[in-house]
Amino acid sequence: MVKENPQIGHRPAVVITRRIFADMAEALHGRYDVLDNQNDEDWPRQELLARLADADALLTDPARQIDASLVASCPRLCVISNIAVGFNNIDLEACTRAGIVVTNTPDVLNDATADHAWALLMAAARRVVQADRWTRGGNWQRFALDAFLGADVFGATLGILGMGRIGRAVARRAQGFQMRVLYHNRTTVAPLNAQAEAAQWVTREQLFRQSDFLVVLVPYSPATHHLIGADELAQMKPGAVLVNIARGGIVDDVALAQALQRGCPGAAALDVMENEPNVLPGLLALENVVLTPHIGSATQTARRSMVRLAIDNPDQVFEDQRPSAVINAEVWQRRRRIATRPG
Ligand code: DGY
Repeated sequence: MVKENPQIGHRPAVVITRRIFADMAEALHGRYDVLDNQNDEDWPRQELLARLADADALLTDPARQIDASLVASCPRLCVISNIAVGFNNIDLEACTRAGIVVTNTPDVLNDATADHAWALLMAAARRVVQADRWTRGGNWQRFALDAFLGADVFGATLGILGMGRIGRAVARRAQGFQMRVLYHNRTTVAPLNAQAEAAQWVTREQLFRQSDFLVVLVPYSPATHHLIGADELAQMKPGAVLVNIARGGIVDDVALAQALQRGCPGAAALDVMENEPNVLPGLLALENVVLTPHIGSATQTARRSMVRLAIDNPDQVFEDQRPSAVINAEVWQRRRRIATRPG
């Protein structure tokens, strides 16, 4: 484990932008100089910059933008560890130019996120949240044959936009529902387990036109901004269900609210939204939308494993070992090294 480094004469300084599990924070305090955020306040940018002035490592979260000017203001920073698999909040090029190693937390959240995609899919298909609100509202007077009629999941067609590791985990679960599974990626992927993930590559348009349930799993980038807008939504089947568990901004939320009002698609379930945590009022007003607050990976096991990995990554950097979860591997040979502190 990293201790006081005799070459630099101090313990590495680590800044953490979010509250992390108390036991893990305590362990970190044992071996680093830690400036953490156990109150979970949103530090204004100036405050973050002040905290980072002396930092060797930053543990950050997907809601915090790490842009080029912030990177330029942190001349000591050697490693940025994102507590997420997605890293669209970080200007990777600026970090690479500056010699800063950037890491993320892949794999440990695959199953939790796939489970939540299914929770959303099922909730939207069977109108669970809407029925719950109605029941709590004291509206239930009698059994009704036509109450809250939903969509069949068993035997339906599932579309996956972005068949990576989480997409495969979603596809595996579909086999229990005897679904036909379609996917679209820029390239076809070899299934890890052909039988369990049996999925057919189709064009993007075929995916929109044929899916009864469409799960969005592509990473966010300028190229995927509003990848799903009015035109794509209009291609969906009336009554189809759209699930976004990837990133806000991939779906054009304004176009989605308008499309949902027309019933095409018939419902949506969103764990991520444009401008989150501010939700578009047009979406809030609709009954055929299920909304959750970016909790796709929120199980004890997954979130603890993410934080564990986010801590292991800088540990490895300080021990001169290339972390397995490094994103900008090309920086490794010319990475910035931890430096002595002035004064
Ligand atoms: C991720 O890891 O990118 C998720 O969005 C955060 O849980």
